[in-house]
Amino acid sequence: MSSVEIPRETWATRIGFIFAAVGSAVGLGNIWRFPFQVGQEGGAAFLVMYLLFILAVGFPAMLVEFVVGRYTERNPVGALREIGSGAWRYVGWIFIATGFVILSYYSVVAGWTIRYTVLGLQDGYLADAAEAEAQFVTLASGLDAIVLHALFMAAVILIVGAGIKRGIELAVTVMVPAIIVIVVGLAVYAATLEGAGDAYAYYLSPDLGVIAANWTSILPAAAGQAFFTLSLGMGVMITYASYLGEDRNLAEDGAIVIGFDTAIAFVTGLIVFPILFTAGVDPADPGAGAIFVSLAAAFGDLTLGWLVGAVFFGTVAIAALSSAISLMEVVVSYVVDEHAVDRRVAALAIGGGIFVLGIPSAYDLVLLDLFDLFADQILLVLGGLLLAILVGWILSDLAVEELSLGIGDLGGYGTAWIWAVRIPVVLVLIVALVLGVLDYLEFLTGPFAEWLAD
Ligand code: TRP
Repeated sequence: MSSVEIPRETWATRIGFIFAAVGSAVGLGNIWRFPFQVGQEGGAAFLVMYLLFILAVGFPAMLVEFVVGRYTERNPVGALREIGSGAWRYVGWIFIATGFVILSYYSVVAGWTIRYTVLGLQDGYLADAAEAEAQFVTLASGLDAIVLHALFMAAVILIVGAGIKRGIELAVTVMVPAIIVIVVGLAVYAATLEGAGDAYAYYLSPDLGVIAANWTSILPAAAGQAFFTLSLGMGVMITYASYLGEDRNLAEDGAIVIGFDTAIAFVTGLIVFPILFTAGVDPADPGAGAIFVSLAAAFGDLTLGWLVGAVFFGTVAIAALSSAISLMEVVVSYVVDEHAVDRRVAALAIGGGIFVLGIPSAYDLVLLDLFDLFADQILLVLGGLLLAILVGWILSDLAVEELSLGIGDLGGYGTAWIWAVRIPVVLVLIVALVLGVLDYLEFLTGPFAEWLAD
């Protein structure tokens, strides 16, 4: 297929790319998913495994995407078509499909965070857990949810439509520093709460016995979280790195992005657990409704909780926006690069399509799970796995050479990186894929079948 040569945009500044990648990585995964995974999987023991997976799997996998993006200077479909042969040429399509599906429900959840920001400012939060739960069920689906989903998608369309420099880069340069400052501020506030001491003990002193007893569930959960939180597995980092120059040290940039993402997730734990402990909520309880039920109820319990809660949910909404634009950019960059469509038109059409696909998720929580489990546990892992096999086993020489640009001679580090991709990354993703498929079948035959029967 012929692609039309149009001058491609680049990031204006080094920090712009780093902010964009951090903005993508820091999102609902850090502030919503991370604390409830820690709670579900046994506290500090999970934290230890998670940090291990970030280093052993997340870091090498991120460099894979960076290298592919900068080498090809293309969107994920174009990139895979260039470096892959035979069936590998089509892997990019998995990325596009994943981005489309993930953003459709990610935007619905982001809509809830907007709703909960307004809720705090208008009425405050309900302290009673059962009432808070009932309120969440009412607000999470139906017309309200659809309207907020539309609002959020409109913001995404505006930013992505404005382009790399004047849209995405400008937006993240404002949003990312704001997120960092507010999250640190909230952690300082949380340190003054009565339950802080117990919360820190729970969060920070790992019980190795817990890891030994529960490793079969902790391992896949920690690996999946490491992948999701770093925005890996669907070409976001390919796309963002495709707007980079060759003088950049990709290993250094990757380390900075990972450092920020991990720090924000870690500090979020220092906010959420003191609040839960102070309100007397068991951190193992919350589950997926964690921040919208347990945490909201805890805000209902605290002095000035409405204000702290509104600041908290507002920050989550901003973090979700800076991630959502990266999901959309994957799809938009494909249409702009390959079909020479005007960026604004592409953003509007794709954003409209994603809005429509998200309506079922905004309509019923079971449907949201249906999309979430499929994208998160199957599509994302499959895309990441195929890319790791291609780069690690088939294109390793080219990959090492590309990584060395902007760094110099890699020495043994190049080989170490390739072997990290070949064995730990590939193995972890195979296990995650098998478990993900099993889990999905269980969901289809269980909760989903029941829902259909109703
Ligand atoms: N990393 C984001 C978060 O933590 C979510 C996200 C954005 C994402 N882009 C992604 C996840 C691409 C997987 C793939 O919320």
